[in-house]
Amino acid sequence: MCGIVAAVGSDNVLPILMEGLKRLEYRGYDSAGVALVEAPGKLGRAREVGKVAALERLLSAAPLTGLTGVAHTRWATHGEPSQDNAHPHVSGRIAVVHNGIIENHQALKAELIADGYVFTSATDTEVVAHLVERELKVHGELLAAVGAAVSRLEGAYALGVIDADRPDRVVGARHGSPLVVGISDQGCYLGSDPLALLTVTDRFVYLEDGDLVEATRKGCVVHGVDAAGIRQPVVREVLRYEHDDQAVGKGEFEHYMLKEIHEQPVAVANALEGRLGSDQVLIEAFGPQARQLLGRTRQIHLVACGTSYHAGMVARYWIEALAGVPCQVEIASEYRYRDVVAPPGTLLLTLSQSGETADTLAALRHARKRQEENYVGTLAICNVPGSSLVRESDLSLMTHAGPEIGVASTKAFTTQLTSLMLVALALRQLHGGDRDLTARLVHRLRYLPTLLGDTLQLDGEIAALAKGFADYRHTLFLGRGAQMPIALEGALKLKEISYIHAEAYPAGELKHGPLALIDGSMPVVALAPMDELIDKLKSNLQEVRARGGQLLVFADPESGLEQEEGMTVVKVPGCCRFLAPIVYTLPLQLLAYHVAVVRGTDVDQPRNLAKSVTVE
Ligand code: AGP
Repeated sequence: MCGIVAAVGSDNVLPILMEGLKRLEYRGYDSAGVALVEAPGKLGRAREVGKVAALERLLSAAPLTGLTGVAHTRWATHGEPSQDNAHPHVSGRIAVVHNGIIENHQALKAELIADGYVFTSATDTEVVAHLVERELKVHGELLAAVGAAVSRLEGAYALGVIDADRPDRVVGARHGSPLVVGISDQGCYLGSDPLALLTVTDRFVYLEDGDLVEATRKGCVVHGVDAAGIRQPVVREVLRYEHDDQAVGKGEFEHYMLKEIHEQPVAVANALEGRLGSDQVLIEAFGPQARQLLGRTRQIHLVACGTSYHAGMVARYWIEALAGVPCQVEIASEYRYRDVVAPPGTLLLTLSQSGETADTLAALRHARKRQEENYVGTLAICNVPGSSLVRESDLSLMTHAGPEIGVASTKAFTTQLTSLMLVALALRQLHGGDRDLTARLVHRLRYLPTLLGDTLQLDGEIAALAKGFADYRHTLFLGRGAQMPIALEGALKLKEISYIHAEAYPAGELKHGPLALIDGSMPVVALAPMDELIDKLKSNLQEVRARGGQLLVFADPESGLEQEEGMTVVKVPGCCRFLAPIVYTLPLQLLAYHVAVVRGTDVDQPRNLAKSVTVE
């Protein structure tokens, strides 16, 4: 998705803006641009299609300097990736960068054209530049002009705006798209993600929806809207960003994704840290109101997108089996537009790595608005402290995965699963489940990071197998029970980074249709942990073999499955059935990664995809 960086400092801010853009590259984008106030009344601008490196080349041929500027990486929504459509957009003395979508841009555009404004792009953003320019003539001052302009906007936006006649300030606005303010002794900065600004500060103000901010090199003043709809200065807490900046480097690894796959033993240990007692989960460690909230929960609506949705699907098996609490899992973009029936005692549990996914946030808000009396509350499982989802939920459980830069989610997923297992066990404790199984699972969870480390030893074996896999055009993934969502996740990983078409099915569903696809050119990846469904899964594998399908099976050493003609078996370290979904995720991540490397795709920034999907 698009990324914003803006700065006002006491020195040339171009290096800060460019470093910020590079740090936002992971979000996915197709063009980049920058605008600076070069002297009072003079705006300089450079925009380029493609990577930030291309913009850098443009700037080294024609450098820009200034104490104030805005910069942007654009992920096209309205209008193709082109120089004209790249941000910043300029109108008179105003330059604007924007994340989000202006839904009423067509009506505004007609109005502005009638007023004599000339449009040079196909974007929705350009209306904002012209609106601010028009309001500046009325109000004579940037903050008031931006305030008046945003009152006309419908949709979602984060904005950074500069005025060539006021080189001492940047104005920002937030409504539905994330925007943070970074504060240091040298200046003040805006970013769509704190990661963009970690080289200049670790102190951030997280803006709330409806906020405007005026940033000068001495600091910032935030203007919020009070209950009566009046805009006035508000105090927003300044928070220190917790993560070590080293965590955003690639280290010894060729790609972020591989680094993040190998970080999983530590990430999962961090997700467990301080939350396990000797034979039970420490519910108080989830937050002061956790015991009351989970104790009153009678059912759960679990809502998420993409990989996070798959984590929710696994959790349904755990929560129903371990706590006996009914659990419904739904894709956020569907939940938000449905007339959801939430019986009394419903907990809305949202899952998100970023905490800024537009559909998941909208589902949370939709639920709160529609049937507040029936929801006992909202719980977010999230990786980004201070994100919108965390701030707007009653309770949040941080996954502590650390920054995840690769677009394909890996450690965020396994730490979500770990956190969900803690929630399932907490519910079990509060809803009277027998203590022996709880104690056994707590013991196994302590051992989980080691088990994941052992599983990663399969890296070399899977890399070798990937060579034979890379020429296939389609793949089918099979699993049963809680491994079925893991099959879905394996298929998603393969398709998003290698561009091989992949589908996943519950193995028992094979004969109801997908079996028709099976022949020698269709590899089938199956997950075979030692659980009560292993014999049924073996029968499903026979159905594939009998039709000449090529099997790659990730199997428990005790499963009895052995290598044979048409069937490659990779032995995964033995583990208990409840934790097997977490363990079996790792070989599928490694398979997708190595196949993508053989195919030469852009592993960390796959085509057309964005890390944080902040538009609908
Ligand atoms: C995962 O590999 C994907 N990149 C994507 O499906 C992602 O999980 C989804 O967009 C949800 O993101 P979130 O967890 O930040 O809400």
